[in-house]
Amino acid sequence: MVVELTIWVCLWMTASISKATAQSIAKPNCQAFCGNISIPYPFGIGENCYHDIWYEIFCNSSLSPPRPFLSRFSLEVEQINFEDNQTLTVGIPMQLWEVWSGTGRDVMQGNSPNLTGSPFLFSSKDNVFLVGGCTGSALLLDSGNRILAWCATICPQQGSSMPSSENCYGVLCCQTIIPSSLVFYRTNFTTSSNSYENSSNIPNSAALIESNSVSKFIQNPTK
Ligand SMILES: *[C@@H]1O[C@H](CO)[C@@H](O)[C@H](O)[C@H]1NC(C)=O
Ligand SMILES: *[C@@H]1O[C@H](CO)[C@@H](O)[C@H](O)[C@H]1NC(C)=O
Ligand SMILES: *[C@@H]1O[C@H](CO)[C@@H](O)[C@H](O)[C@H]1NC(C)=O
Ligand SMILES: *[C@@H]1O[C@H](CO)[C@@H](O)[C@H](O)[C@H]1NC(C)=O
Ligand SMILES: *[C@@H]1O[C@H](CO)[C@@H](O)[C@H](O)[C@H]1NC(C)=O
Ligand SMILES: *[C@@H]1O[C@H](CO)[C@@H](O)[C@H](O)[C@H]1NC(C)=O
Repeated sequence: MVVELTIWVCLWMTASISKATAQSIAKPNCQAFCGNISIPYPFGIGENCYHDIWYEIFCNSSLSPPRPFLSRFSLEVEQINFEDNQTLTVGIPMQLWEVWSGTGRDVMQGNSPNLTGSPFLFSSKDNVFLVGGCTGSALLLDSGNRILAWCATICPQQGSSMPSSENCYGVLCCQTIIPSSLVFYRTNFTTSSNSYENSSNIPNSAALIESNSVSKFIQNPTK
């Protein structure tokens, strides 16, 4: 079974429009908040409120509280820090693989949203490549399947206690830095055991994640 959840990833905005155009608030006569999240220009909700189509925000007010989405990518927006550090935090879907077929080498592939052509990059400063699970390993690949990074985990030693829940040093959890200028990535995850059956509460997983969300993910992967 594959479970899908949302994790937070930090995007960095490359656009040269940034400093000159960025505002701390929305354009006049435009919706300044979606729920409690501030939507400063060049982002905007509704026509004539955003700089260009890449910055269009859809505020889904059927949700309680209403939640903003980057329209072009249908990615939920958690925070926009355009003026300060040109970053925004978005939710990307991450798949957790719970079942091991028992054949010894399962490869599971995932694709990121494709930011090619947009003013956004996956921030190398604010994200890490995280691999979770017991004896899992994953490659981070570019669109041409060239290897960009690799990270691997081992199970805790028999009889030893579980690693502290903040640790991500290779036992059940591995993290590594990522190259800069990333606009798309694939993950190839391989495992030789089912982490759920191996007393691990960290599910089989591989994705970019905001560095400061790592310990939260380890402590409570499905929240
Ligand atoms: C918005 O509200 C949620 C839930 O009350 C809270 O967790 C979050 O920190 C708030 N965000 C901001 C930007 O205030
Ligand atoms: C808004 O959220 C509701 C509730 O989750 C969902 O059913 C609906 O499809 C969303 N609207 C759009 C346009 O995505
Ligand atoms: C960006 O700046 C804001 C405000 O200074 C800060 O709260 C936030 O943590 C910063 N984000 C990143 C990803 O550096
Ligand atoms: C990403 O988008 C670009 C521009 O639309 C396209 O040329 C490229 O093939 C896409 N890459 C992948 C892996 O889908
Ligand atoms: C990644 O996984 C796919 C699908 O199983 C496989 O065809 C491909 O060879 C793998 N790539 C690498 C570099 O291991
Ligand atoms: C993990 O689980 C698999 C399948 O249940 C089992 O074959 C393997 O021996 C376990 N590994 C460890 C280190 O406990």
